[in-house]
Amino acid sequence: MRRSVKTIIPTHTVLEGGGFQVRRPVAMGALMSPFLLLDEMGPVNYGPKQAIGAPSHPHRGFETVTYMLEGAMQHADSAGNSGDLNPGDVQWMTAGRGIIHSELPHPEFYENGGVMHGFQIWVNLPAKDKMMQPRYQDIPSDELPVVESVDGKIWAKVVAGEAMGAKAIIDTVIPIQYIHYRMKEDSNLIHNISPELNGMIYMFGGQAEISGKKIDDGQLIILDEGDKVEITSKEGAEFLVLAGPEIDEPISRYGPFVMNTREEIHQAVMDYQNGTLA
Ligand code: FE2
Repeated sequence: MRRSVKTIIPTHTVLEGGGFQVRRPVAMGALMSPFLLLDEMGPVNYGPKQAIGAPSHPHRGFETVTYMLEGAMQHADSAGNSGDLNPGDVQWMTAGRGIIHSELPHPEFYENGGVMHGFQIWVNLPAKDKMMQPRYQDIPSDELPVVESVDGKIWAKVVAGEAMGAKAIIDTVIPIQYIHYRMKEDSNLIHNISPELNGMIYMFGGQAEISGKKIDDGQLIILDEGDKVEITSKEGAEFLVLAGPEIDEPISRYGPFVMNTREEIHQAVMDYQNGTLA
């Protein structure tokens, strides 16, 4: 059964931490389990020494996934991990019981300026995994599976899950689909999303049609039930497909901590203050 459009959520542009420009769906509380946040970072054109990022901050109880399209970031954390994120690279960071990290523009990018564009999504973890050992998967662009349709009209990069026969190399705690699609003019795509997963599409370029509804740039589409989605584009389109299971548990959230109860949030704050979070 084809999934139809359940809800169309518009986005707005907000300035995060110190003026970092992101495009974000409104009514975030209504966003679909297991996704807690979806930020399109930029695209923004920074002058020399203007780029900003997020200095040292903690996380507990969920995962942050960063996918760069343009620009360069550099990350470092309390466990001694560090690395660069260049165009096309993905970092899948499972905070689990706790990490403290910084996400900053790469020093060279900072010096020269340039276009920064990418995505950060937050994926919730079920109670049983919230306190797991933290884990990083830093995957360079050329190791991420990319697949093209026979007629060359559809291109997909598989961050998580599977698309057009290509399987992800990133390992996820719960079953997640994260696919970046580009469709050329006059193309048609049928993408499978297993019926037990919630599915959504974030359009960030061009236009498409799903179940008779026109979808524009900057719209987040929550899909109805089914086992596949059909997307048609006359003028070309670029979007993310995201899918994951319903985590039927209470959410208690405070800034960078996402737990099930207020007590657990209180504990996270205490652990951070005491220096025992990470
Ligand atoms: Fe972070």
